[in-house]
Amino acid sequence: MAIQRTFSIIKPDATERNLTGAINAVIEESGLRIVAQKRILMARREAEAFYAVHKERPFFGELVDFMISAPVVVQVLEGENAVLRYRDVMGATNPANAAEGTIRKRFARSIGENSVHGSDSPENAAIEIAQFFSGNEIVG
Ligand code: CMP
Repeated sequence: MAIQRTFSIIKPDATERNLTGAINAVIEESGLRIVAQKRILMARREAEAFYAVHKERPFFGELVDFMISAPVVVQVLEGENAVLRYRDVMGATNPANAAEGTIRKRFARSIGENSVHGSDSPENAAIEIAQFFSGNEIVG
């Protein structure tokens, strides 16, 4: 299996509770490497563009408001099978359905305030990484 990259966001509910380091520890213990990372306050237009695929969903407005409510940490993670591996490490979108030991089981508050985002495919990972990082900001 080739080395792959995925895009991650540590969301406002987690940064507000000072959980960046705790979540990064889970990521690193899983074998994934954090090869780029920055803490930013997303602009409304950035959050709307990032979640454009969900714009017809009833929760879109709430999702955008939440994502700009406090700082987030955007990251590039690298490792074997990184996209699927990080989805396993995160757990199910709804923390009520997340497996023991996953980030969402341990830290998430609800389906909306679910602590982390991870790309759902290598194609989307490339698009999402390019939205927040230029090539020389990623050092593997
Ligand atoms: P994420 O992986 O960032 O991708 C889309 C996000 O929409 C998802 O995580 C959830 O945080 C959010 N989401 C999905 N379903 C709902 C819902 N029913 N209500 C609020 N937010 C939701």
